[in-house]
Amino acid sequence: MDIQAVRRSYARWAPIYDLTFGRVTGAGRTRAVDVLNRLGGKVLELGVGTGLALPHYRPGVEVTGVDASAEMLEKAREKVAEMGLTHVRELREMDARKLDFPTASFDHVAAMHIMSVVPDPEQVMSEVARVLRPGGSLLVVNHFARDEGALSVMERAIAPLADLIGWHSDFHRATILDAPGFTLVEETALPPFGMMTFLRLRRD
Ligand SMILES: C[S@@+](CC[C@H](N)C(=O)[O-])C[C@H]1O[C@@H](n2cnc3c(N)ncnc32)[C@H](O)[C@@H]1O
Repeated sequence: MDIQAVRRSYARWAPIYDLTFGRVTGAGRTRAVDVLNRLGGKVLELGVGTGLALPHYRPGVEVTGVDASAEMLEKAREKVAEMGLTHVRELREMDARKLDFPTASFDHVAAMHIMSVVPDPEQVMSEVARVLRPGGSLLVVNHFARDEGALSVMERAIAPLADLIGWHSDFHRATILDAPGFTLVEETALPPFGMMTFLRLRRD
């Protein structure tokens, strides 16, 4: 899936996202924001989408959101305006593979349901390593491919439909865990049914 396919797919998703995929994936956002609210500081949300997590940060956590889809960002901007979310510093249209931020400019990075969507996740991990300060946290929420069982067969079967559904169903956690510059701190399966996994990594 190239970046234009991502943009086309999420232009279609934007009007229905909160009521569909967004509705069944709240556990990961809740988990990640709980951790970030405890840690505090400057947070970068990669692939902020329609901004479903934004209302849940506590005041004092400074959140910057980026996304490649203008239509998804527009929904996020509506939430910020309607709810008066003053802790949201800025929302910018930006490709996560080439972040327009200085080195070590964020305390923490959240990547929720984006790593299996981006065209080049290894490059995104490299950019995260650059913009995250040493000792900062990267929180990832994602579905990861299974090695065996009926679900793994289904994941491989629908993998060619990535352009249509908007993500790669056969995305492997090794893409995250093998990225240089990080140490895994926590891995937790999330409800419902462990479909999504929460990873917390520390920038070395
Ligand atoms: C499944 S949505 C997740 C949205 C939000 N994080 C959430 O949890 O609801 C994936 C988002 O990643 C964005 N995205 C995909 N590739 C991207 C890239 N290269 N740079 C920035 N955003 C990207 C899409 O536009 C989409 O909004």
